Amino acid sequence: MIFIARAVHGIEWVCAEEIARTLPAGDVRLARREVTFRLPSVDDRLHALRTVDDVFVRVGEVGDVGTTKDALPVLARRLAALDWSAAAPGAVPGRRFDVVASIEGRRTYNRYAVEAAAGAALAPVLGATFVARTDAGSAGESDLTVRLFLRGPVAVAALRLAARPLHRRAYKQDTGPGTLHPPLAAALARLTAPAGGERVLDPFSGDGTLAIEATLAYPDARVTGTDIDPARVANARANAQRAGVAVEFAVADAGEADAGRDARPDDVRAADVRAADVVLTNPPWNLAVDAAGTLAGSLDRFWRTVPGRLCAVTDADLAVPEALRRQGFTTALTTRVRLAGRVSDVVLAAPPGHPAPALPPGLATWREQAVRAGVVL
Ligand SMILES: C[S@@+](CC[C@H](N)C(=O)[O-])C[C@H]1O[C@@H](n2cnc3c(N)ncnc32)[C@H](O)[C@@H]1O
Repeated sequence: MIFIARAVHGIEWVCAEEIARTLPAGDVRLARREVTFRLPSVDDRLHALRTVDDVFVRVGEVGDVGTTKDALPVLARRLAALDWSAAAPGAVPGRRFDVVASIEGRRTYNRYAVEAAAGAALAPVLGATFVARTDAGSAGESDLTVRLFLRGPVAVAALRLAARPLHRRAYKQDTGPGTLHPPLAAALARLTAPAGGERVLDPFSGDGTLAIEATLAYPDARVTGTDIDPARVANARANAQRAGVAVEFAVADAGEADAGRDARPDDVRAADVRAADVVLTNPPWNLAVDAAGTLAGSLDRFWRTVPGRLCAVTDADLAVPEALRRQGFTTALTTRVRLAGRVSDVVLAAPPGHPAPALPPGLATWREQAVRAGVVL
């Protein structure tokens, strides 16, 4: 069976490495926002993938798809004629499904028209009720999602394996502005690969996404999160509790070199803040969320205090890779990711006087493949 994992653009290679490491996957291929691979059958471990946004089983494809509205009834009929039996479980009374289409290339119809036409044609084939979506939103929750990818004259049809997208984490219920997309947080944690006992710090921890994802992936690391905003610290604690991880969170200004000093000893190990081996973070970028306290106006003061190897995702407007270079950091990786329409830099670097960081074994090869395939720069 062929599977399609959807990914944040820029980290497809991290997703490919996770797929190859955790599943008996063959023929793993990288494309923009997508990793395709083969498995002998549906495997429960697919649901445990943490760096991908979503995973689908590929049903088939239809060619010669026209660009004008009269192409839609033909497309719908041909989609319904594909063999959905291997991917879709048999009819279940009351089951509902939706269709999500993404379209590349100019057409006189939009995604909603494709979804409506395909939904009506697939309802009898899937034995389920179609839940239509409009630009005003969906008519309700569904149990199955059909995914259509229209690229030029080809429409690829796939079916989501889980009822909900993988990027939706059950633990993440308390959130504030600028909170990080969990699969990207999981990918950044993978870039730092903390060893057992290493101290990992997120000094701008917000709702705790990076700290929680790092602890889930590396339970033997000692992970701490601090944030200047007590409301975000409360969110992070509630999210961590739901995730079932014991992460220490405390209120602190990341611009204070001895941040965490005032925290209660039971809240946070102050030494873990001052002497972290890994700083894994997503600083404020003055759009969704402002830098506050001693860092209002510039993060430079913060970069000077980074005690160990650094993995950060920062809005491209902040020009952080250049700022780090000016401050003498050595860089193992600078790359870009695109999320919610904005471009961010991802950097893996070490401050002056520290050993140069390296990508964990296995990841470097996937990165080279992604560069060779033109998926990332
Ligand atoms: C982009 S958000 C981080 C989001 C986080 N990664 C998450 O998943 O929720 C930046 C965070 O930096 C915090 N912040 C702003 N100025 C700060 C400072 N001087 N020290 C510590 N935290 C600060 C904000 O309160 C906000 O929670």
